[in-house]
Amino acid sequence: MRLTFICILLLSIAILPYPASAKKAATIDELVEMYNIKPCVECHADKYEDWKTSTMGNSVVDPRVLMGMRTFIRLAIDEEKSLKREDLTICLNCHVPQIKDAAPELVIHIGDLILTAVEDKDEIKREAAKKELSKLNLNCLGCHNLKATGFNVKPEEKVIYGPESIKDNPHESIGFQTKKSDLIDTSEFCAECHHCPPDVPWKECPTLYTTYIEDFINKGHKETCQDCHMKGAKAIHKFFGPNNPDFLKSSISLSVNARPTNYINIYENKKTSAVVIKIELKNNAGHVIPHGCIFSPKIVMNLTVKNQDSKELFSRQKEFTVGDLYFKGGKQVAMAEWDVTATEHFDLGIKTDEPDTSTFIIPLKTDTKSVDVEVNVKYLYSRDEIFTIGESAQKVVFEK
Ligand code: HEC
Ligand code: HEC
Ligand code: HEC
Ligand code: HEC
Ligand code: HEC
Repeated sequence: MRLTFICILLLSIAILPYPASAKKAATIDELVEMYNIKPCVECHADKYEDWKTSTMGNSVVDPRVLMGMRTFIRLAIDEEKSLKREDLTICLNCHVPQIKDAAPELVIHIGDLILTAVEDKDEIKREAAKKELSKLNLNCLGCHNLKATGFNVKPEEKVIYGPESIKDNPHESIGFQTKKSDLIDTSEFCAECHHCPPDVPWKECPTLYTTYIEDFINKGHKETCQDCHMKGAKAIHKFFGPNNPDFLKSSISLSVNARPTNYINIYENKKTSAVVIKIELKNNAGHVIPHGCIFSPKIVMNLTVKNQDSKELFSRQKEFTVGDLYFKGGKQVAMAEWDVTATEHFDLGIKTDEPDTSTFIIPLKTDTKSVDVEVNVKYLYSRDEIFTIGESAQKVVFEK
């Protein structure tokens, strides 16, 4: 998601889809009660356990989200005259869709808790705020009711929408009807939050969903978001993402080819050994990677070449990232201000079917007997969470 668009364009849209309902929750506990998922646990324990530990189950207390929302409150809301504290709803609309039924005072209270959770000097207060905020998340009814009918159709109250037509009313005992949603097993369902709303022109809204369509579907692939992220019919509710090591590693194939060669230096009239290194990074995901909402993660490839004495002869780093830069007033700062007219989207990510290749030719001194070529690829999920997603070590020996 591009934050700039979220701020400016969702400001109005955010309020549109649902008419104000009569009852508004004044406390977090009241809001939780209105979208109570306790009964679901009894019959769908597996789904609940998977969901609870997923990013969806922690869509506010995820440390990255807390920091991002804190910064939005401090640098956008508190500094822009056009925004008020209750406009935190702009963010919460996707992170906690139930927020549509919260009173403005509750949104302000949630904002205060976010500030406490991130900034308070007292750890006990920070932890208490986090505990309270952990009650807010993207829960079963957020997807199986609020988001299950799309942008233009209002979901019916007390209905659980699912992927199949189920006849024998399994949810009667908890007062819910069960209906089929034609949307929920499609990629468009995920795009409700992983893309901009339909009235934002496609071209002006480069998101993860845009690259899914342009770099994946339009290139002949067929898989939906659910096929990869929920393992299709298994409907695994872990919503596999970068914080799942095996899933993350599956996204990148690293191949390194290091070979000895001769390097002819015409100026010096000399023939020396050299090593040629070709590195290819292939993206197996269904869209450009890496990608994020406002905290753009990064993929970093590191190459080092050492000689037989472990002396470093050469090193290079290459970064892959996608985001928006702010160019007003000569400054060049990522997401420093929230002005859509002054931002420029850049895409330095790795596309599906377009491997990133780098070739290095490194001339060596005559006393070099062998070199160790080491490559690693790291995924910088956040400042504190860095995952290794590819490694290679090769030795190249030079014959006399
Ligand atoms: C249109 C829906 C939507 C809105 C509105 C929204 N987010 Fe997000 N947010 C997402 C999605 C989807 C992700 C996961 C993105 C990903 O990893 O590609 C996310 C992830 C995040 C993250 C985790 C790190 C990252 O950047 O991926 C932060 C921080 C965040 N959002 C902050 C905010 C803030 C602050 C606002 C309000 C200004 C906001 N979000 C508004 C959908 C939204
Ligand atoms: C982020 C959205 C999202 C959330 C949150 C979510 N689901 Fe789902 N759920 C889906 C999608 C999408 C499918 C359909 C997957 C498919 O068929 O491709 C699904 C399918 C299901 C199914 C039917 C598939 C099966 O294996 O039986 C059940 C049951 C279900 N969800 C229960 C739950 C429960 C219980 C929770 C809360 C603990 C929950 N879901 C939370 C999106 C969500
Ligand atoms: C009394 C047991 C029971 C409770 C409580 C319960 N479910 Fe179910 N649910 C079932 C059964 C049985 C089915 C049908 C078989 C299946 O898919 O597991 C089902 C199916 C579903 C489906 C798939 C529907 C479809 O169209 O494919 C979803 C989604 C779902 N439940 C969500 C929920 C949510 C959300 C809650 C809590 C609000 C909940 N269930 C509470 C028993 C229950
Ligand atoms: C109601 C809005 C909403 C819907 C619908 C939704 N998501 Fe998300 N998704 C989010 C938010 C918000 C986050 C960020 C949570 C966080 O970082 O803690 C997120 C995070 C993710 C992540 C983890 C990203 C990361 O950086 O760790 C994945 C993967 C993901 N969503 C996939 C999906 C898929 C697949 C679907 C459709 C089946 C879907 N989402 C539907 C709002 C949504
Ligand atoms: C072909 C399989 C595949 C398809 C299709 C796919 N994804 Fe992914 N996705 C992945 C893999 C693998 C990763 C892990 C790589 C990463 O996080 O950089 C990933 C990463 C993500 C992330 C985390 C972004 C990041 O780089 O931090 C989000 C959010 C996400 N996908 C959402 C979606 C949504 C929404 C759709 C559908 C519009 C979708 N994906 C379609 C395989 C897929």
